[in-house]
Amino acid sequence: MITGANGGMGRVICQQLLLSGYRVILSCRPHGNGPGFCQSLICTYGRERVDLLEMDLSSFDSVRKAAGLLMEKEKRIDVLINNAGMLGWKAEVSEKAYEMHNTVNCLAPMLFTWLVKPILTEESRVVNTVSVMLRFGKIPDFFPYPPEKFNRFERYSCSKLALTLISLRLAELWKEEKIWVNMADPGIVNTPIIKLHKWIDPLTDVLFRPVIRQAPRGASTAVFLAMDPSVNGKTGTLFRDCKPLRLPARISAHTDADRVWSFFITLCTYGNQQ
Ligand SMILES: NC(=O)c1ccc[n+]([C@@H]2O[C@H](COP(=O)([O-])OP(=O)(O)OC[C@H]3O[C@@H](n4cnc5c(N)ncnc54)[C@H](OP(=O)(O)O)[C@@H]3O)[C@@H](O)[C@H]2O)c1
Repeated sequence: MITGANGGMGRVICQQLLLSGYRVILSCRPHGNGPGFCQSLICTYGRERVDLLEMDLSSFDSVRKAAGLLMEKEKRIDVLINNAGMLGWKAEVSEKAYEMHNTVNCLAPMLFTWLVKPILTEESRVVNTVSVMLRFGKIPDFFPYPPEKFNRFERYSCSKLALTLISLRLAELWKEEKIWVNMADPGIVNTPIIKLHKWIDPLTDVLFRPVIRQAPRGASTAVFLAMDPSVNGKTGTLFRDCKPLRLPARISAHTDADRVWSFFITLCTYGNQQ
C-alpha cells in the first residue's frame, strides 16, 4: 500500500511495484486526480491487482476510517509506503488545531501505521518518506501546535524530524516481530511539492527543475526499501540512493524524542479508546 499514490513520486512507485508483480493499494484523497489515476492503472493491470483506499491525512477521522476499511478487507500488508506529504505556503491547522505539516507529514501517517499494525506481519516493511530537511528541524516547546511565526521550511523540517523520531521508536518496538521500519530520503526531486508559490516559479521551472532529480530517481530508494531482499533484517535505518546513511547522534538520540513519542502514543491510545 502506498499513500500519496497520485503524486510525482507516488506514481512511479506504484508503476514499479505493479511491474514487479505486486498487488497495489493506492491511497489518495477522495478529491483530485487520485481516483482517475487509480482507474488508469486498473485498465492496464486489472482490477484484481489495483485497489483504491481514500484517505485524507489532514483528518484523523479520515485516517481511522481508512484504517478500519483496510483491515476489514485485507489480511496482510507486505509493504506500507508512507509517501504522501505536503509543503504548505500558508499557516494551517488541522481540526484538532495541530500544525498542518506535523499532522499530514508525521502524526496522521504514523497513526495510520499504528492502527493497521494487526495486519503487518513478520517480514512486513514500513517505508517512511523523510527529507534532507529533517537535519534542520527543531521540535518546538508546544509540539504539534503551531509557533507564532509561519515559516514553511521550518514547519516542514520539524514534521520530517518528528517523523524520523517516531520511525526510530517504532523500528525498535517492532524489531522482535520482524516488522522492518526504514526511512527513504529521495533527495531534491522535480515534483509539484517543491513549488515556491512566488513570482520566481516560472523561472525555476525552466532553470532549476530540469537539472535536479527526476521522479524515477527520487522514487528509487522507496522502491528499493519496499522490495529488495537485502533490506530484510534492516530496521530503523535512513537510506538515500538505496544506501544506508548514518544519522548524527543529535538526531538518533534526540533530546525531544521522548516528548514526541509520548504525544504520539497518547494520540494513538486516545484514538483507540474513542
Ligand atoms: N520532491 C522533493 O524534492 C522531496 C524531497 C524530500 C522529500 N520529499 C517527500 O516525498 C514525498 C512525496 O512527495 P512528492 O515529491 O512526490 O510530491 P507531490 O508530487 O506533491 O506528492 C505529494 C502527495 O502527497 C499527497 N498529499 C498531500 N496532502 C495530503 C493529504 N492531506 N492527505 C493525503 N494525501 C496528501 C498528494 O495528494 P494530492 O494530489 O491530493 O495533493 C500527493 O499525492 C513527500 O513525503 C515529500 O515530503 C519530496
